[in-house]
Amino acid sequence: MKKVFLIAAAVMATPAWGLTLVSPDGNLRLDVDVDSAGTPVHSLSYKGRTVIAPSHLGLSGREADMTRGFAVTGESRESVDRSWQPVWGEYETVRDHFNELAVTLTRQDVDSPGVMILRYRLFDDGMGFRYEFPRQDAVKYWAITDEHTEFALPGDMTVFTIPGDYDTDEMLFTSVPLSQVRDEFKRKRRRHTESQAIPGLCVQTPMLLKGLDDKPLYVSIHEAALRNYGGMSLLLDDTTMTLTSHITPDRLGVAAYVKLPFHTPWRTVIVSDDARDILASQLIYNLNEPCALAETDWIKPRKFMGVWWEMFLGEGTSWAYSNDWDAQPGVTDFSKVAPSGRHAANTANVKRYIDFAADNGIEGLLVEGWNEGWEDWAAFRKNHHFNFTKPYPDFDIDSLTSYAASRGVKLIMHHETAGNAADYERQLDRAFQYMVDYGYDAVKTGYVGAIIPRSEHHSSQWMVDHAIHVAARAADYRIMVDSHEAVRPTGLCRTYPNWVAQESARGGEFEAMQGNPPEHTCILPFTRLKGGPMDYTPGLFETDMSTYGGRHTHKAGTTIARQLALYLTMPSPLQMACDLPQNYARFMDAFQFIKDVPVDWRDSRYLEAEPGDYITVARLDKQSDDWYVGAITDENARTANIDLSFLPKGRKYRATIYADAADADYQTNPKAYEIRTVDVTSKTLLKQPLARGGGVAIRLQPVDMLAAR
Ligand code: NOJ
Ligand code: CA
Repeated sequence: MKKVFLIAAAVMATPAWGLTLVSPDGNLRLDVDVDSAGTPVHSLSYKGRTVIAPSHLGLSGREADMTRGFAVTGESRESVDRSWQPVWGEYETVRDHFNELAVTLTRQDVDSPGVMILRYRLFDDGMGFRYEFPRQDAVKYWAITDEHTEFALPGDMTVFTIPGDYDTDEMLFTSVPLSQVRDEFKRKRRRHTESQAIPGLCVQTPMLLKGLDDKPLYVSIHEAALRNYGGMSLLLDDTTMTLTSHITPDRLGVAAYVKLPFHTPWRTVIVSDDARDILASQLIYNLNEPCALAETDWIKPRKFMGVWWEMFLGEGTSWAYSNDWDAQPGVTDFSKVAPSGRHAANTANVKRYIDFAADNGIEGLLVEGWNEGWEDWAAFRKNHHFNFTKPYPDFDIDSLTSYAASRGVKLIMHHETAGNAADYERQLDRAFQYMVDYGYDAVKTGYVGAIIPRSEHHSSQWMVDHAIHVAARAADYRIMVDSHEAVRPTGLCRTYPNWVAQESARGGEFEAMQGNPPEHTCILPFTRLKGGPMDYTPGLFETDMSTYGGRHTHKAGTTIARQLALYLTMPSPLQMACDLPQNYARFMDAFQFIKDVPVDWRDSRYLEAEPGDYITVARLDKQSDDWYVGAITDENARTANIDLSFLPKGRKYRATIYADAADADYQTNPKAYEIRTVDVTSKTLLKQPLARGGGVAIRLQPVDMLAAR
């Protein structure tokens, strides 16, 4: 019966050859079709210019092949214009405005039937599309092995990306024409103990592409709402300039085990001829499901310090070397073991940080190395066990809890799992209850090392769902999550706004290792940040690594003024002040900006931007009428043109400007800054010189409010 019906449907359907969809403003145009083999194909243009040339689509796997033999058997359309209020973010209100087309494709082979829907949303700033598989008799369970989504690019565009890797994204970006990526990757080849490079010429998303002709074109490719599926990387054919999806498989080669009905994550293409629009785009959030939490008033954006940087510097505890305790493996009672004298997470030291944070209005304090398990963790080994409810005896959690509370500081818990996600899931409820018992409302999680269950990868289906499970379970306990070494974010923090930040890229911590060149933070907002906020850990004031114990001699890729600007250019609702209290104490006038700068915004305006070169952004505080401006440049000095016409007309503002001094330079004179105040209005154009590797941070307060304060 079923087969007869399918044939009838196919005969009756007039092949709707060449379906078209345009964006609300008419600038983007999508064409969808099936080719002579019945393989779906689409193309995308922007203001008449090709963004995606005809590109094939489809999925294949063990129980079904959904790549060919299709005819278009239906279409439905919808136009939506609505807005939503994020719990936190760059904007108080986000507009979700798109035209939608769903194309039903039915396989014509009676012996191997199948139905697939391609759902497209065209926004003014780009496109989202996904594959949907409705309930159908022919396929019930499906082990998907390959996704064949092509992105045929119009030419040899410049790409900002990192090498494809199943386990890590902690790399510097390559920014070269697509035709040179192969050589660049060879030149920069690096190995990471805990990661596995994807075979072939493979690049990671979120990536940014830039057109090479004189008319600029910027294209960001990524995915939205990744769940129940492996993360997507892209294989590059550098003869045809075509990217093809590659989904992280498990060790049996399966990208996703699914039960129909099922849909893939959205594939996203953000497009503009103005780089600032790429930064401002909320497209990935718009494609995520609305907030899943009934109550969100307990989610509190904040800044935090950490008993953390000292371990990277090798000054105090050092997570990589297990040298906190002179313990032998098998030790079960730490009260009988002497700490090595280098255990930074001890009660007295934590109190010192609590005092500094409290004295300076920094609300949070992260403490790493507080719990049993560090003493015999050889980093990157498998099956390690951390205990998330057992502090070391020199970390007096009872007294620290009451001391922190008395000083108005929230302690932030740390759960390093060493990649043993299965062990973490077993402890999860106990660990979260323990946090609640001690008044913690935020946790930083970590997955350094290989993933345990069935040898999964950091970006495979099981781990994708693990990360979501942790965020959702944390919400049940009213806990905010900042995950490190988790799969790159895809906007899921809209759905789980307690998932306030992730690392998932090369963070500021690398300043203590090989260093980050200044262009790195001129690329991250165009790439990694499109998926969600990053716990980058700005606020580095002691930039000379030779200060510390001689392990390193290099200088960080930054001036002090630039570190302040990062609080604007790298927005996150959980934002660290990463340096040591004693370093801040040397530069208290500059630290004032970190004390003042908010982490949640009513509005944002990108004033200047060019990927890899510079970013200037202005943001309006959610709680007051104060505006803040941050501007950064790469290794080249430049003058930021800060046009203040976004200020309300006729209102005078006092600008406190934290700028590079005239002789500042990230390599030779990074700590030279000057602070000045000047009165400005919406008519002011500030021309602010930025040093090589430098930046500027500005606070703008309405003068009428100053009088009232
Ligand atoms: C890597 C994280 O990025 C870092 O912040 C953390 O301190 C270490 N892992 C130890 O968990
Ligand atoms: Ca550059």
